[in-house]
Amino acid sequence: MQVAIVFDSKTGTTKAAAEAMAELVRAAGHDCTVSSVLDADPATVSGADAICVGSWCKGLFFVFQHATEATMDFIDGLDNLDGKPAAVFCTYKTAVGGMLRKMAEKLQGHGANVSGSFKSRGPVAAEGFGEWVESLG
Ligand SMILES: Cc1cc2nc3c(=O)[nH]c(=O)nc-3n(C[C@H](O)[C@H](O)[C@H](O)COP(=O)(O)O)c2cc1C
Repeated sequence: MQVAIVFDSKTGTTKAAAEAMAELVRAAGHDCTVSSVLDADPATVSGADAICVGSWCKGLFFVFQHATEATMDFIDGLDNLDGKPAAVFCTYKTAVGGMLRKMAEKLQGHGANVSGSFKSRGPVAAEGFGEWVESLG
């Protein structure tokens, strides 16, 4: 299976988390690309068999949390995902609010079947992501 992970990272935490998550995907025998939402080609990502989108959590630490604009713009640029499995994740420090739900809703609006939602407090794979990878078969 070809899995595409895209992320937005300001200071490197989300990039490192995405790379650690890609290693889990590869360890399960799949191919995996990892790219920044600033560089990734939406058409290429749309062509993967499964998609994972991650953002750092931006807000006022306890309120108004959201994904970055670049992340939401990237999702907006995706083609119809036609029921493909997808996941969302974020890195954060205190609380993530509704950001993962909003990312998932936007992906669902593009036809994805969002079956995973994960968060990580540091530059490591988000907890539970390995189970999502297993669910891909
Ligand atoms: C301007 C700004 C706002 C942030 N707001 C929140 C927040 O509302 N909630 C939270 O848990 N973390 C918040 N954080 C922490 C970051 O989401 C966290 O450190 C993240 O892992 C950074 O990822 P990055 O290194 O990939 O940029 C904020 C960080 C910055 C710089």
